[in-house]
Amino acid sequence: METEVYQPAEDSRLLAATACDEITGDERVLEVGTGSGYVAERVAAETGATVYASDLNPYACEQARNRGVPVARADLTSPFRAGVFDRVLFNPPYLPRDEDAERDDWMEVALTGGETGREVLEAFLDDVARVLAPGGSVLMLVSTLTDIEAVAAYAADRGLAAETAREEKYPFERLAILKITPEH
Ligand SMILES: C[S@@+](CC[C@H](N)C(=O)[O-])C[C@H]1O[C@@H](n2cnc3c(N)ncnc32)[C@H](O)[C@@H]1O
Repeated sequence: METEVYQPAEDSRLLAATACDEITGDERVLEVGTGSGYVAERVAAETGATVYASDLNPYACEQARNRGVPVARADLTSPFRAGVFDRVLFNPPYLPRDEDAERDDWMEVALTGGETGREVLEAFLDDVARVLAPGGSVLMLVSTLTDIEAVAAYAADRGLAAETAREEKYPFERLAILKITPEH
């Protein structure tokens, strides 16, 4: 169902454009939380890379599959084998929970990252290094609404170096793509 699936917006486009500039055709890529499949489809089409995807939302899996994206219904990186992806992409849910506006549906899952806004992306950072191939890296979207320095500090505590690959300013927030690489 369209209304149950996050549709491409400026954050999706910023992640897709950055990924298309960075990724080469010989890479194996995983997009976590693919939603409509827009980012995964565009990266596959523009770079020639082999792109797989995951999402928790079954309606998102269906939409992505209809775009031709191979997708697994999964929690983050949990079902994937260790050491296989040259690049992992994620545009996570990042808004802090607003109890007055909270909804019990898939759009809430797409948008809200718990009390701090960082709960889902922190769970992602806890496991993502496991699925990276040697020399691999992560491209993850973050927002000033989520405290970008706190995200970088959390990554550093897990042996992951984060640098800003690209950023864009909007009226209420600044969006950035962090390039995250295991330090050893
Ligand atoms: C902000 S939307 C981004 C969608 C799409 N990648 C884009 O950029 O347009 C976040 C996506 O992450 C998915 N998601 C949230 N928690 C997840 C989890 N634990 N495992 C997998 N996907 C998850 C949501 O269902 C949603 O599709």
